[in-house]
Amino acid sequence: MKIGVIGLGFVGLSLTSVLASKGKDIVGIDVDDEKCANIKKGISPFFEPELKKLLKIGLGKKLKISTDFSLIKNSDIIFVTVGTPQRSNGSIEISMIKSAVKDIGKILKNDKKNPIILIKSTVTPGTMQEIILPIIEKESRKKAGKDFGLISNPEFLQESTAIRDTKFPHVVVLGGYQTRYMKKAEKFFSEIHPNIPIVITNHQTAEMIKYANNSFLATKISFINQLSNICQKIPGANIDDVAKTIGLDPRIGKLFLNAGPGYGGSCLPKDMKALINFANRVGINPTLLNAVEHTNNKQIQNIIHLIEKTLGSLKNKHITILGTAFKPDTDDIRDSISIELIKKLLAKKVTLTVYDPKAMKNTKSIFKEKIRYADSISHSLKNSQCMIIMVHWKQFEKINDNSINIMKRKFIIDCRRVLSGKKLNSNYYAIGIGKA
Ligand code: UDX
Repeated sequence: MKIGVIGLGFVGLSLTSVLASKGKDIVGIDVDDEKCANIKKGISPFFEPELKKLLKIGLGKKLKISTDFSLIKNSDIIFVTVGTPQRSNGSIEISMIKSAVKDIGKILKNDKKNPIILIKSTVTPGTMQEIILPIIEKESRKKAGKDFGLISNPEFLQESTAIRDTKFPHVVVLGGYQTRYMKKAEKFFSEIHPNIPIVITNHQTAEMIKYANNSFLATKISFINQLSNICQKIPGANIDDVAKTIGLDPRIGKLFLNAGPGYGGSCLPKDMKALINFANRVGINPTLLNAVEHTNNKQIQNIIHLIEKTLGSLKNKHITILGTAFKPDTDDIRDSISIELIKKLLAKKVTLTVYDPKAMKNTKSIFKEKIRYADSISHSLKNSQCMIIMVHWKQFEKINDNSINIMKRKFIIDCRRVLSGKKLNSNYYAIGIGKA
């Protein structure tokens, strides 16, 4: 079986590496020359645990990486994993996916195989039926369901656990018509993911499931963040105990109830905006989704308020930010709340020093010489008047009285309650814990 993957971002490269490491005959295609050249050498364009190892195994087997689209010819299965970035009005930009499926259509025209095309890219409901299918049929002069299969196959992997999630997804969703191609796809996935539920539905529902999933996760986060703000006003109240306990109710579930500075990353904020835009377009006023987004946007003010309450005017104050990635175990800073906070503090003329175990290079590419970059926690705290922990990196748990001695003022704002179990000799505030 020959497999093609178009678009080597988090989803595409993780999928390619996992399948290649199992010895599958697979070609990964991307338009970016430099990215492909690096991947061929075993260098991943981003940090993702376990990815490099699997990529190297795959490269030693049958994996090919190329910018040459024609290599997908004669594939049995083609995955489309290109990005669908956000437009300024919140809707998604689908030019990359249009161009990818146009190229697939052109290749299909003279292809002897009858491949199954699986669309993993996140697209709003109706996109398959109204845009993708007509493009492929027009370019290939072939019929979906007869000459090739076309299936919506949304992806739920999380960055930082992308490899585990690719190997063991919680579900496989297949959206499309009940044709022989659907049966083949079901067989393919049940072989690579035995014991994992496979949901077969139509295109529109599959597309909607992805948005339902991410908007529900965002709702859980905004819910717990709002409760955490209330807890902060109750001396002695602790949001983690609240979250842990309500999480024991199986109707609620324990995951995605970690209060913090708000959700960031390349998916949750973008998918929320796209769903809100879509709902408005179809005549539904998405009041709950709007509130979830509003709560998320306001969360950063909570942090700024805490700093100003203690330091007064922030002009020329020395502040340290620990963690710039959008979450731990990634170097990804796209839509990171920490990056937003840096921008807001720079506008207030703060002197900023930042440290992140993995995301320094990406952070530098945005702020250049506007902020200082430390190479360790202790280096970042020298002469600092305030430490803000934005991301729960494991190594931040080691911070103790010795580490903070170097600070000019021992004032800590812990947005992830990394140090809440320690009695540090400091003026310590944690998001979600009412100061007694
Ligand atoms: C998300 C979805 O989880 C995944 O299913 C989808 O395929 C892509 O989008 P990801 O972007 O990797 O994955 O990040 P995720 O782990 O969901 O975290 C998103 C943001 O929410 C981060 O900023 C994280 O810090 C925050 N978050 C998450 C919380 O603040 N509290 C939580 O309890 C969970």
